[in-house]
Amino acid sequence: MSDESRPSPAQTPVAAVIPAAGRGVRLGPGAPKALRALNGTPMLIHAVRALAASRHVSLVIVVAPPDGAAEVKSLLDAHALPERTDFLVVPGGDTRQESVRLGLDALPPEYGVVLVHDAARPLVPVDTVDAVIEAVRAGAPAVVPALPLADTVKEVEPAAEAGEPEPVVATPERARLRAVQTPQGFDRATLIRAHETVTDNVTDDASMVEQLGLTVVAVPGHEEAFKVTRPLDLVLAEAVLARRRLNDGF
Ligand code: C5P
Repeated sequence: MSDESRPSPAQTPVAAVIPAAGRGVRLGPGAPKALRALNGTPMLIHAVRALAASRHVSLVIVVAPPDGAAEVKSLLDAHALPERTDFLVVPGGDTRQESVRLGLDALPPEYGVVLVHDAARPLVPVDTVDAVIEAVRAGAPAVVPALPLADTVKEVEPAAEAGEPEPVVATPERARLRAVQTPQGFDRATLIRAHETVTDNVTDDASMVEQLGLTVVAVPGHEEAFKVTRPLDLVLAEAVLARRRLNDGF
């Protein structure tokens, strides 16, 4: 399909790419992070359900550990997922960026809006997903959910050895800083161009779009969209699920 004949972001269906190929070393030894259980259900399944909870999302592409695509496929088959949403599983790469690109390679042409969501953020509320989609559909080429910071942030000259004192070189004004979460939302053509053009190692997809010189906008994120990185985050995630069960009565 040529760019001219592609429907505008306001009309096209939305697909989500979920990179889930990381080892999760900071979480300690064990299965790949996305396959670790939260209240008995793999983190990845929570993340897939969180994205599929949006009625706008009709395709979820899961990027599995390179040697784990079959296992991830059977996990998806074994868990109840919304009927209106299709699922694809592709093997991932060595870096998050490469995993996302492999997911984008599997994206069918009719999807004009793409979300990229970390499997490691299993509890993102549907309202946050929908706010990101809405901003892309309104015309932004790239959208990030973001939260103000509680801590003051310092830029340092990193020490050669972990634990050594590090000279502080700057203190950015906290009121202008945001902690950025996922799902990040994109106009499809923009994200594909960013992945074709930018080769620097980056930690999120929106910064690749910034490098193209395009404007990325931030919408309010949510504290429950935190990334499960360290062992304590697993405890917090299970506490959030317990609170939801109490509130929802199931
Ligand atoms: O390592 P980090 O926490 O930044 O990973 C963010 C997300 O990217 C995780 O969901 C992880 O599974 C995914 N990832 C990936 N392929 C890699 C490395 C990370 O899909 N090679």
